Amino acid sequence: MEEQNILPFPYEIIDVTSEEQEQINKVYGSTINIYRLSRVGPKKYVVYETYKKDAAGIYNMPLRPTDVVVASYQRSGTTMTQELVWLIKNNLDYSTAATVPLKRRYSFLENFMFYDTNQLDAFMKSMDCNMDNNDLKEILTVCAEPLLDTAKVVYVARDPRDVAVSSYHCAKLYKIIRFPGGFKEFWNLFYKGLYIYCPIFEHVKEAWDKRHHPNMLFLFYEEFLEDWAGSIRRVADFLGRSLVPEEVQDLCKHLNIENFKKNKSVNHAELRQHGMLDNNELFIRKGKAGGWREYFDEEMTEQAEQWIKDNLQNTDLRYPHFKK
Ligand code: A3P
Repeated sequence: MEEQNILPFPYEIIDVTSEEQEQINKVYGSTINIYRLSRVGPKKYVVYETYKKDAAGIYNMPLRPTDVVVASYQRSGTTMTQELVWLIKNNLDYSTAATVPLKRRYSFLENFMFYDTNQLDAFMKSMDCNMDNNDLKEILTVCAEPLLDTAKVVYVARDPRDVAVSSYHCAKLYKIIRFPGGFKEFWNLFYKGLYIYCPIFEHVKEAWDKRHHPNMLFLFYEEFLEDWAGSIRRVADFLGRSLVPEEVQDLCKHLNIENFKKNKSVNHAELRQHGMLDNNELFIRKGKAGGWREYFDEEMTEQAEQWIKDNLQNTDLRYPHFKK
């Protein structure tokens, strides 16, 4: 028995049903094992099957009061929030930020589930990338940290339709996922909760319900875009750091999407250099709100409206920019 199996883990992890796996396989084809999915806990969050192996280890990880966790549903603005938090917590050390990739400065907690270390050879082959296994292991090395009573959490949420579009591009970006279909096929998996980390609304609602906890700061991506300086100040206040106007200006400039796109510490230059990313896609992409309109046809727009309505019914969660 592996060591982590003796650590307590209070949530059940179950396989997706064979019907669900069939729907997923129909879209993906049966490429590599990474597409085997499981569900964890009462909200039935979708994770890769490989999540099982370190779930208890992560759940039991010791925390320090100085830890700050940036949490989000994927593609909601995690990277820019991490960069901001890291800079504020590290005395605005732009020179380290410029030279050390963010993924090495800020652990990606569940990174381990994306790469089954027993299958590195198969992954390398499937990605056709130019790295040996040791380099890959080193690049994917993860250490981690979570929860509210000890650590601080900055949560960022975003219009789930824009998250869907951004997640679609991300699924095309990583050769390891290499989503073969079009957006409509992706959307069909996403809103039915058959994509990784789904269901998105449950994720956001869990954080929203804790938003008044003194160790929790709940932000919307769209609020950043509307008011960078104000949002930066909110994060700094939450972390107990006062910023002079010039420092706020510098952070605004640093986080500006055009600069961020070129910033090799955050744009996954390292993975691109190793041939792990598709040449037609970017990790830091458009950085806009409302881009989903270019992707959704009438049917998808209606599906999305109903989906949002259904999911916001029994909650006071409101996205500030959903003006009706
Ligand atoms: P798009 O794909 O819509 O452009 P995450 O970091 O959680 O993966 O989120 C990625 C999304 O945030 C992408 O959205 C990305 O372009 C956007 N993003 C990243 N950095 C940004 C920044 N500095 N300003 C605005 N948007 C940013």
